Amino acid sequence: MVNSIIYLSMFFNLFLGTIKGLTNIQLEEIGCQLILGNTYHLALRPGAELIDELGGLHKFMNWKRALLTDSGGFQMVSLLHLADITEQGVTFQSPVDGKPMLLTPEESIQIQNKIGADIIMALDDVVKTTITGPRIEEAMYRTLRWIDRCISEFGLINVFLCLLHFDDIHGVKLNASVDYWAAHKRPDVQNLFGIVQGGLDPVLRDICVRGLVDRDLPGMVASKANLTSYWDSYAIGGLVGGEDKDSFWRVVAQCTASLPEDKPRYVMALSFLPDAFYYLAMKNTFQGVGYPLDIVVCSALGADMYDCVYPTRTARFGTALVPEGILKLKNQAMANDERPIDLTCSCMVCKNYTRAYLHGLVTKDAMGSQLLSYHNLSYMMRLSKNLHTSIVEGRFPEFVRGFLQTQFPKGD
Ligand code: GUN
Ligand code: ZN
Repeated sequence: MVNSIIYLSMFFNLFLGTIKGLTNIQLEEIGCQLILGNTYHLALRPGAELIDELGGLHKFMNWKRALLTDSGGFQMVSLLHLADITEQGVTFQSPVDGKPMLLTPEESIQIQNKIGADIIMALDDVVKTTITGPRIEEAMYRTLRWIDRCISEFGLINVFLCLLHFDDIHGVKLNASVDYWAAHKRPDVQNLFGIVQGGLDPVLRDICVRGLVDRDLPGMVASKANLTSYWDSYAIGGLVGGEDKDSFWRVVAQCTASLPEDKPRYVMALSFLPDAFYYLAMKNTFQGVGYPLDIVVCSALGADMYDCVYPTRTARFGTALVPEGILKLKNQAMANDERPIDLTCSCMVCKNYTRAYLHGLVTKDAMGSQLLSYHNLSYMMRLSKNLHTSIVEGRFPEFVRGFLQTQFPKGD
């Protein structure tokens, strides 16, 4: 375990460049170091060219800390009815204007380079884990072929940038663009993460892990002491497609066991369900790696990074995350409860507002969503930090025991 557990909070409303309901200043206050955007959404709106023209996503959204962009691969599953996958890439039907949009591994890298995130993801062929048969194998091998195309494209962009540093190429004066490129293209500080696919099949997962580890992924060499730096690494993908928890955990454990220990290992989460389906999904198969329990278990299995919309989405439905589990602020019992959401939490919301006040606000006013999102993200950051510290201080087993005893006092 690389001891670099980072809780990534996703901004789902990506074309608006925001974590729903919270300002960047609030995110900084909460301690978010890294947030996630999506190539597919950003490429649709406002468009990679515009983001590029306006100085890259960091500048565009005025976010000074780290950004990660997903490659667009996940949309293959979430928007399958709109996507057609071939060796060349994925063709999506644009939900904006209905036009077909081809996303190749090369284009995904080009777009992510324009967006300028610190961590970019390779385009992968994602299939649901509930699918069986040769499609799983095909997707895994295609993911390996595509990573080679991503690495080549990444290399080409780098070469192009190096060339720009010369005064004169083929008689063309390029010097004027050096600053422009250097300002936000940043391939020298972009890190490419490969994604392990292979469904629930341990043999396929093993081939994919080995294939990725054998390849030299581009990324900066960062000092591990510098927590704001990241380096190339690996993600475990293709999960949370309806599989049961045991299968999910088995795949995570298998992959972390053979991925390099000195690099962060990122478990990618299901996070595409729109709000309207949230309640239904919660009752059935919603299994994002965003629940506190998932994060503790996956960390015990050797994973380091997670993302999910869960903390902010559940906030919009009036649910607060607390050490004992969840607190539903809509419940009548909250109406005259003068305590803060969580007595052990020192976040701005717990310092200033009572459950009774929030009871009347949540699900009715945007401020309710904002305050609860603020608390929930603070909770997740505190959990990740405590988990991290317990590993560093060699008391992770006690931490897990304490966490489970608080969440499940009756032992069920
Ligand atoms: N988000 C959740 N799972 C995945 C995955 O398997 N691939 C990509 N690219 N994104 C994901
Ligand atoms: Zn709080």
